[in-house]
Amino acid sequence: MKNFYKLKIKNFLKSNTDKFFLENSLSWQTYSVNYQEWLEPETIYTLNSLSVFPDKAYIFKAPPMSILPIHIDGNQNSSRVWAINIVWGSNNHNMHWYKIIRKSNIVLHTQASTPYLMFNKDDVEEVENVSNLVGPTLVRINVPHSVSNYDNKIRYCFSLRCLSKNDTWEKIIDQFKFFID
Ligand SMILES: [Fe+2]
Repeated sequence: MKNFYKLKIKNFLKSNTDKFFLENSLSWQTYSVNYQEWLEPETIYTLNSLSVFPDKAYIFKAPPMSILPIHIDGNQNSSRVWAINIVWGSNNHNMHWYKIIRKSNIVLHTQASTPYLMFNKDDVEEVENVSNLVGPTLVRINVPHSVSNYDNKIRYCFSLRCLSKNDTWEKIIDQFKFFID
């Protein structure tokens, strides 16, 4: 079982949204955004038809030539299992997933006040990575993962968090099976 699956959902984001933020910071940024302002109404309809209900959305901004620390979204006790990510801006970026060798208790917070559990490189082992994902992709976020941006352009990632009765990775893949490439 992979840690990511591309989704066949066309026109996922609204085309008239300004997707390039002017602020040119050299640090990673997390913005909490209103998913209704970003998603095409048809996308919400499609997700609802799968009994998936958008809950929250974030934009992650990665400066050129940067690496996001290895982390799980959430803390030791609770974590979101999955997200739908869509990336733009950078043409050379990777996402990595790891297995845990030693547990972590380093809980930090993003600028949007969401907690994440950080791992040291020596406490995990890489199991999978993917380059240059394009288009909406189901990604697993309750196992350690990280992102690298090797481009000299900013990498933007819209990340949708949803409510669903299925709270395991296996079940959510099954729920999306007709939309997986
Ligand atoms: Fe994450």
